[in-house]
Amino acid sequence: MSDIVKIFDTTLRDGEQSPGASMNTAEKLRLAMQLEKLGVDIIEAGFPAASEGDFEAVSQIAAKLKHSEVAGLARANKQDIDSAWGAIKLAAKPRIHTFIATSDIHMEYKLRMTREQVLAEAKAAVAYAKTFTDNVEFSAEDGSRSDRDFLCKVFETAIAAGATTVNLPDTVGYAIPSEFAELVRYVVQHTPNIHQAVLSVHCHNDLGLATANTLAALMAGARQAEVTINGIGERAGNTSLEEVVMALHTRANYLPLSTHIRTEHIYPSSRLVSMITGIMVQPNKAVVGANAFAHEAGIHQDGMLKNPMTYEIMRPETIGLSATQMVLGKHSGRHALREHLKNLGYDLSDDELQIVFTKFKALADKKKQVMDEDLEAIITEGVLRTAETFVLEYLHVSAGTTVLPMASVQLSINGRSVKDAGYGNGPIDAAYNTIAKLTGAESELLRFSISALTGGTDAQGEVTVRLRENGLVALGRGSDPDIITASALAYINGLNRLEYLKTHPVDKAQGSL
Ligand code: KIV
Ligand code: ZN
Repeated sequence: MSDIVKIFDTTLRDGEQSPGASMNTAEKLRLAMQLEKLGVDIIEAGFPAASEGDFEAVSQIAAKLKHSEVAGLARANKQDIDSAWGAIKLAAKPRIHTFIATSDIHMEYKLRMTREQVLAEAKAAVAYAKTFTDNVEFSAEDGSRSDRDFLCKVFETAIAAGATTVNLPDTVGYAIPSEFAELVRYVVQHTPNIHQAVLSVHCHNDLGLATANTLAALMAGARQAEVTINGIGERAGNTSLEEVVMALHTRANYLPLSTHIRTEHIYPSSRLVSMITGIMVQPNKAVVGANAFAHEAGIHQDGMLKNPMTYEIMRPETIGLSATQMVLGKHSGRHALREHLKNLGYDLSDDELQIVFTKFKALADKKKQVMDEDLEAIITEGVLRTAETFVLEYLHVSAGTTVLPMASVQLSINGRSVKDAGYGNGPIDAAYNTIAKLTGAESELLRFSISALTGGTDAQGEVTVRLRENGLVALGRGSDPDIITASALAYINGLNRLEYLKTHPVDKAQGSL
């Protein structure tokens, strides 16, 4: 058996099922390129039958990538498989990923099908997908709660029909590591043709065990891990790529398996995902959290100074986190900026660099030192956004202990300038009320959070908002040294994303697996 584990990244599909995480096509394409650079073997680019937007994004990713396989998800029916193939057919290495549920509870209540019907559907779906490509993956949804012998029968049938990968998902995050490993061993022993396919696992994190379950399954014989960057995904998320990869890398003495991942691109990939989705990484998150390499206790710091290995099991540079940040200032030129962005993992076109350079100069005028986090914010806000319906042209607020907080706002709406003034409980409320009046927004503000991007009193404030309107949820981000401006930018970004969702509906009903 090979000792290489294939990394199948589903940030763009299962990850996008995180509440409010929908990404636009430009953002998805950018992320797919980063995942290819990271060395991901298979990128699940989306669920083409779910919506036109998904189909379009998967098609663009398929046409662009050269090295990674590009997978499109499809339920076990002809329409979904046609749609998946339509979207990935231009890929250098296309893969159709088809699935059907195999647990009694899903078959009885969700599918209303018998075991025989599910077996027949699985066989027909794989055989149909096989008419388009040799590279077909079959998943037994809710596999961990399925009858073991039925699961093996389904896998045997799928492999006989041509599946080259069979995937065992712990769809609801119910498994316990030793139990999951035992299930994998059972599948290996009781599926006669299992050696004709790669056995994969796909874990969810409802009990915080996704990484542990994945590692246990790999030790038991699985050779593909389905993961997402930062562990984002449906409900409590999926297995996180960085945890599995760094566990294999760091504990090679105990886990004799390796991956094709270029670990130095892990941190930039993590930052890109949180920038694009607005889902911040918790500070104590393993591998990529802000505190993952911070040593607070004196006794630890003392040990670190004497020998870093006393308290550090991984070097920050292994995941692409440089100990010393290069600081750019207002005298830094375009060339230095381009080189620095390349090191951070951003290969920008000349036009994109021009946008970033202009915004960088404007920021450097306000703030002495421009840090990596500032540059990432500029890129997310300046380059990765789609055409915007609403653009902030002017904002003035007055507030204090004795005056009614007031805001005057000028916006461009589809290129036409409009202005108004309003008041509120505080300066942010005043700005938001006025923006809502100008845009006619009826969205509800579900969440508002503010943090400093870097240290220092001149740090940029970074604001994230979550908005809901008629069942659509969008995140907005904004950053600026002035926190009221950052708040207004975040709100306007959220409103632009809602506008995008209205015209590119992501069918969450179909997408909820
Ligand atoms: O969690 C799950 O079962 C899935 C399948 C489609 C693989 O996401
Ligand atoms: Zn899943």
